[in-house]
Amino acid sequence: MSRHLITSALPYINGIKHLGNMVGSMLPADVYSRYLRQRGHDVLYICATDEHGTPAELAAKEAGLSVAEFCAQAHDTQKAIYDGFQLAFDYFGRSSSQQNVEITQHFARKLKENGFIEERAIRQVFSVADDRFLPDRYIVGTCPHCGYDKARGDQCENCTRVLDPTDLLEARSAISGSSELEVRETRHLFLLQSKLQGEVEKWIDRVGDEWPQLASSIARKWLTEGLHDRAITRDLEWGVPVPADTWPELAAEGKVFYVWFDAPIEYIGATKEWSDLDPANRDWKSWWYEPEGAADVRYTEFMGKDNVPFHTVMFPATELGVREPWKKVDYVKAFNWLNYYGGKFSTSQRRGVFTHDALEILPADYWRYFMMANAPESDDTSFTWEHFTATVNKDLADTLGNFVNRVLSFSRKRFGDDVPAGAAAGPAEAKLGEEIAALLAEYEGHMEALSFRKAAASLRALWSAGNSYLEEKAPWLEIKTDPEAAALTLRTAMNLIHLYSVVSEPFIPSSATAMRSAFALGDDTATWVTPEQARALDTVPAGTAFTVPPVLFAKITDEDLEAYRERFGGADEA
Ligand code: 2FM
Ligand code: ZN
Repeated sequence: MSRHLITSALPYINGIKHLGNMVGSMLPADVYSRYLRQRGHDVLYICATDEHGTPAELAAKEAGLSVAEFCAQAHDTQKAIYDGFQLAFDYFGRSSSQQNVEITQHFARKLKENGFIEERAIRQVFSVADDRFLPDRYIVGTCPHCGYDKARGDQCENCTRVLDPTDLLEARSAISGSSELEVRETRHLFLLQSKLQGEVEKWIDRVGDEWPQLASSIARKWLTEGLHDRAITRDLEWGVPVPADTWPELAAEGKVFYVWFDAPIEYIGATKEWSDLDPANRDWKSWWYEPEGAADVRYTEFMGKDNVPFHTVMFPATELGVREPWKKVDYVKAFNWLNYYGGKFSTSQRRGVFTHDALEILPADYWRYFMMANAPESDDTSFTWEHFTATVNKDLADTLGNFVNRVLSFSRKRFGDDVPAGAAAGPAEAKLGEEIAALLAEYEGHMEALSFRKAAASLRALWSAGNSYLEEKAPWLEIKTDPEAAALTLRTAMNLIHLYSVVSEPFIPSSATAMRSAFALGDDTATWVTPEQARALDTVPAGTAFTVPPVLFAKITDEDLEAYRERFGGADEA
């Protein structure tokens, strides 16, 4: 048994997330955590809402709430959706927690002590009407290159040129529309990442080779371009305050840390939130603080590719600069984009499938399976309703669901409410056992390697093997001439169902429970089965009482498909 710390990128507090957000972070982290728990490892899966920053402030303003109230509500809304998706976090925290405030401030003090934080004066755009400094993207105006009149201070969306706010013609505040803008001097804290470049490089040389190519290549690219010193404070009302004991003047001016400084620290903060709820039994520091050589925790992070630089370079640089043995990531699992009909999912344009709508239409397992079977691991992939429908109908409804129902209903009709004994296992069962053991070993290999698409394909192959066996033995024919043979086939098939209930758990936990609880085995744990154990196909003995669960997966009809296309928009809008 080993200890596994798992985190998925913290979802921003504003707005409900779409399937594209979930497939690259929380869902695979949950699948992996479930698998490791089933295998008996000590797993801690931590996530939280990422609550600071300008978008949260603006969303609160739009909702007519204080930022604190807005975040509290939005956190609960998101948490309820993730519960609906059966994401089994050990803890889902909030980056605005007192724990995160304290740890973030501690990190900042240490970085200063060690010479990695410096105060610098910079010139920034101030909006008189809004009485605040404006981040670049909240200054809009006309692009000097293409004349687009809604260009942002950091970039023109129309011609994609990178801009400086002072380049804009007729610049105005995106918040109030006011053009009364001034450039004022303001002081901020800078993290001297340039001084940490060498150490980060050394660290990546040591651990990065094991990462999937997507993560290591992005990390290397950033390092090649060189680490620049970055402002890590902002003039905002909502955020982790700069500690007054260390920077009294900046604290008095109301400076807070930049959201990307405190967000990754919240992985630690949320662990402490979890630990503080039951301090006698939970020790947050044992997961995060490890003197060199005492490493007994393996830390795996999940995220979309846009988050990779922050997790592979900037957060490790921060941790290294603190000069305390904070746990650094061992394995970075990064994902490409899931698109919607080849175009981007977009929160601002409400394009694509959002998580609350998904759950309103169909149970979580349908989505979980589809997303993982099509996870954008080696390339971007696309969601289409047609592909989703075909996958659900074929893999879940036909291959798995129909097998389960056919076997259990037929056996009950012919042999009653207990698993029949029948003849002793013969060559067909031996062959099936071999095949199952081999497929299961393959499945485990893909799970260990965090290759989720391949793992889903192996799982599907396990389900198919049951169908082939059933077709070959045809108990509905055997029953006519040799009821003992039919009983053997059904008992074997029921053992397959039980095996499926165990090994399908990471992907489709609700359906797995339904399959498992069909059998009165007294013990509803989904403890993993090794290929050697699986080969025997004898976990469910003859005489075990069983029930026939309701249909596991309903097929999506042509009418449903049409209705989804209509409601969400489809190919025509790509
Ligand atoms: O890109 C995002 O959605 C960010 N909220 C991820 C933050 S991950 C972490 F470091 F907190
Ligand atoms: Zn332009």
